[in-house]
Amino acid sequence: MFNKLFKKTNGTKALPQQLTTDKIPQHIAIIMDGNGRWANKRLLPRIAGHKEGMDTVKKITMAASKLGVEVLTLYAFSTENWKRPTDEVQFLMKLPVDFFDTFMPELMAENVRVNVMGYHDALPLQTQNVVKQAMETTKNNTGLVLNFALNYGGRAEIISAAQSAMRELLAENGTVEQLTEERLAAHLMTSSYPEPDLLIRTSGEMRVSNFMLWQIAYSEFYFVDKHWPDFNAADLTEAVATYQHRTRRFGGISK
Ligand code: FPP
Repeated sequence: MFNKLFKKTNGTKALPQQLTTDKIPQHIAIIMDGNGRWANKRLLPRIAGHKEGMDTVKKITMAASKLGVEVLTLYAFSTENWKRPTDEVQFLMKLPVDFFDTFMPELMAENVRVNVMGYHDALPLQTQNVVKQAMETTKNNTGLVLNFALNYGGRAEIISAAQSAMRELLAENGTVEQLTEERLAAHLMTSSYPEPDLLIRTSGEMRVSNFMLWQIAYSEFYFVDKHWPDFNAADLTEAVATYQHRTRRFGGISK
């Protein structure tokens, strides 16, 4: 069964048959949407959808790692999500605690390195601590980077990066004109990662909701109707297969 569905690559990875080895996205970013609707459909409270969504995070992390993806960025909580009812916000803030409590052994076994980007200071102390601990525990892992965007907003990130780049320039007696794209990008929270090749959004909505606004300038977009708790490894493969058939021109023309 395994041999029929997967083909061996020259590395240690085994790829699903419909994928080619040469165009695996280095960085996949996902807007995990539809937890609430998933729960509503089942007459469950919204938090049941978030809980199920947490399990999907683990499954998709493992699947992305097996495909050889280098960075997986997941939009877990936006700077706008504080507008939600207090009990839902509290539940969402506890999810990283549950997630790392439950899945850390599997993340370690898969050689996953955890990063959390966003404005940490505004998070509850327990969440800040667990996030710090997860990054510390996994810091020597060399496999997939699992990058959570937590209390993250794209516009706020660009402003912070511009301010920080300008501060650096002023300290060097530089000028405003020296603020280049490269310099600004070096101050983004993702400065050590490649830009996302593929942006996936679940649940049928076709918008970017303030997610990685700078970094997705040339990303390929993939929208799928399934709600996040139903999204699975086969759906990820399908998204990557679609990506592999796209022609990326980065503003140029096809060869
Ligand atoms: C969007 O669905 C989802 C979120 C705002 C939260 C996403 C969080 C998870 C999937 C779990 C994250 C896990 C960890 C470990 C941090 P929605 O609530 O907006 O759904 P709706 O649009 O159907 O209401």
